[in-house]
Amino acid sequence: MSNYVELFHRLDALLVKNRQFWQFMPFAERGFVWPQHAQFCQWLMTIDDSQLQLLTHDINALTAALMPWIEDAELLTHLTTEIQPLNRTVRSVPQGFDCGIPGRKWQQIIAFNEVLPPLGLPWLEWCAGKGYLGRVLAVSHQQSVTSLEWQQQLCIDGEQAAKQLELNINFVHADAFSADSDDAIATEQHAVALHACGDLHVSLLQRVAAKKGAAVSISPCCYHLIRQSHYQPMSAAAMTSTLVLSKHDLRLPLQETVTAGNRVRQLRFVEVSFRLGFDLLQRELNNIDTYLAIPNVQKALLTQGFEAFCQWAAFKKGIELPANIDFNMWQRQGEKRFAITERMELVRQLFRRPLEIWLALDRACFLEEQGYKVVLGSFCDKPITPRNLLIHAERGDIAK
Ligand SMILES: C[S@@+](CC[C@H](N)C(=O)[O-])C[C@H]1O[C@@H](n2cnc3c(N)ncnc32)[C@H](O)[C@@H]1O
Repeated sequence: MSNYVELFHRLDALLVKNRQFWQFMPFAERGFVWPQHAQFCQWLMTIDDSQLQLLTHDINALTAALMPWIEDAELLTHLTTEIQPLNRTVRSVPQGFDCGIPGRKWQQIIAFNEVLPPLGLPWLEWCAGKGYLGRVLAVSHQQSVTSLEWQQQLCIDGEQAAKQLELNINFVHADAFSADSDDAIATEQHAVALHACGDLHVSLLQRVAAKKGAAVSISPCCYHLIRQSHYQPMSAAAMTSTLVLSKHDLRLPLQETVTAGNRVRQLRFVEVSFRLGFDLLQRELNNIDTYLAIPNVQKALLTQGFEAFCQWAAFKKGIELPANIDFNMWQRQGEKRFAITERMELVRQLFRRPLEIWLALDRACFLEEQGYKVVLGSFCDKPITPRNLLIHAERGDIAK
């Protein structure tokens, strides 16, 4: 059994065992979902807002705080440290190459390039955008780059920039899911995808493996952007798991928020507590105890108060509001539910990175099964991008 398969099974067992703490939708619940853990819920309500902020952004502090309540908390966080930063080789890039590239995107590209081994192969850049990464690969490795992208304008812009920089980059305007885009994938090639969403990177891995492509390196993102209603495991290891992941579950790895300022936090409090208050009201009126999704709201409406929000939401959902509704009471109920929801989300944070690594390991194990030597690690620090996992796979028989 490979190390990755073993780590996968260890994480899988803990995620399955602790499902009750993360596999649910906090905003759809009336209150805490752990009636059997009354003291835990009471303790969660003693956490004030500043502590909540602190714990949300410090996984070690959160782990320590949850250890008395969740016996696997320490082990879960410890297992995530088995995925280590990848070794970087400094590769200088000529001045001016960063022109027009947002700062953090540039840092991601530099880091991505510096962890890839030079294999002397032409590159395929999957879901390339304007081909920012392709430019750096082309100049660093002096190999041709094929950049495949769906949005025509991005291809035009990317082509123009490549011409100006005198780089050997060929843009292919294609849908990555189409049969035609298979033509872009070749055996003697190093395929890369920086932050290609869900099924887009999954289909790349499957198609590279089918063509026995020499090497592929991806940093996955947006695991929930899939065509099926539930996650489809890729590896034999994940196929044995009893976890069934919904799109909501698959969003958990992306729920690492940057610290928001007071104003943004206050706006969020108003909007979410209004939504939760209205949801309780509609449950009562409709006599159905299920969550009702409400469309996006113009932020200006929120300044008109809870009653105006309810009138708008009721209109959108075709609900008739009777006279004499005690809006103040429902607003207070919404605020109380907001506090509970936030604390359930806090608990789910403990499982965020373990689930992300579970998903990355599924891809890594799949590639191993397909005959690749695989390395999984982080290619940059989290402030540069929280989506910092990179899977690199080379065929065992590759000639260096
Ligand atoms: C998150 S962006 C990443 C872009 C680039 N790799 C980067 O890191 O800057 C995803 C890119 O995938 C492209 N894309 C989305 N669906 C696609 C499809 N079906 N076929 C090809 N490209 C697609 C989008 O247009 C977008 O440029």
